[in-house]
Amino acid sequence: MRPPNTAVLQAYCHSVHIVHSVHIVHSVHIVHIVHIMTTAIPCSTCAPRAPFPARDISTLLARHNRLWGERWQCWCESVQPPWWGRGLVISPDLRGRYESYLPVREYLASITRLAEVFLPDASWLPIVLHNTGGCGCLPASPPYASIADYWATLPDGLAGKLCLTADELLPLFCALADPPRYGTTTGRYPEQLAELDELFRHWPPHTPLHLLDIGSGVGLNTLEIATHAATLAPQAALAVTGVSAERLEVWMASARRLPHDPQREKKLRDFSCDLPVAFVYGRAEDFFLPGRFDIAICNGLAGGRFLHQPAHIAAFLDRCAKALHTNGRLFLANRFHDGHRDQLDALVAIARDNGWTCHGSPHTLRLQPPATAR
Ligand SMILES: C[S@@+](CC[C@H](N)C(=O)[O-])C[C@H]1O[C@@H](n2cnc3c(N)ncnc32)[C@H](O)[C@@H]1O
Repeated sequence: MRPPNTAVLQAYCHSVHIVHSVHIVHSVHIVHIVHIMTTAIPCSTCAPRAPFPARDISTLLARHNRLWGERWQCWCESVQPPWWGRGLVISPDLRGRYESYLPVREYLASITRLAEVFLPDASWLPIVLHNTGGCGCLPASPPYASIADYWATLPDGLAGKLCLTADELLPLFCALADPPRYGTTTGRYPEQLAELDELFRHWPPHTPLHLLDIGSGVGLNTLEIATHAATLAPQAALAVTGVSAERLEVWMASARRLPHDPQREKKLRDFSCDLPVAFVYGRAEDFFLPGRFDIAICNGLAGGRFLHQPAHIAAFLDRCAKALHTNGRLFLANRFHDGHRDQLDALVAIARDNGWTCHGSPHTLRLQPPATAR
């Protein structure tokens, strides 16, 4: 397939970010390019249109609100207050009562059906709603022990609610895709940033500096690193790609919108619009991106809850080795608690078995791929 015509794409949108994206993906299928174009960082002239709601949600939402309104009323008539409050201690007894009146499995199935209509397609469902029975069947084991445990993960305004307005759907789905436990923000990995700064400071001028951030979340750490690179290596040909397995996160990072968290949204929007950053969908264990990267970063993911199976770690390292230039480096940082120590040690052991050179501590690792990886 012919590379896309940059001039045509330039005409489509006057944004350096999008032209940058075109260079990144010049050899891939046009559908991929259109996807990146619609998720490129917005500037004042070209904010991407939100692809929601994808279909008319009103009938389904009315049905959801009727059913859960009745159940809430029944709960309030049968159980003494307080019915819900931030910080409420959810004892086993209270959890049992919640489950009798407001079963979380059924509620999640209803929310999932709403998401399936509201979002462009099933691949956009927040990971936490995968296997939650949107197609009519109930999930075997829900990700929350009760509706109160589900509410505890939601921001004020959404927590404690069963019935929803149409305007609350996008914040709700974004909150489910970007839960507080991800903790995606800036300033979390100062040791790693100091090491990256050292590399950026000495980067040869007029040389490509292609960075890859795997598991980039809503993009705050990606944009932070991109800002350091742009500041310390101003002459380099910088290009940054953030990859996440949550499509809603890719949208939030690209559109710089966090409908569920205005404070963090402001932080996201404070980053310069001129940074050459693109966010795309991909999974750490099987992503494919054209071209090669000088530095790959993967923070808060490898060795943690979402990526620790030995086969997945081996696949992730293999993908990274293939994505990196010969002298490329992989930087891994995390703030996992000590319970993850065995998984982090196992990650290093798998990397060494596969020919990687590893330096650093379990919380801030620097890896160099085997020369034979490609
Ligand atoms: C704890 S957050 C870390 C975000 C960011 N890197 C940071 O440190 O601030 C983990 C991120 O990895 C994403 N994720 C989970 N499983 C993934 C996978 N298999 N491949 C790529 N990303 C994944 C999650 O959606 C989430 O954005």
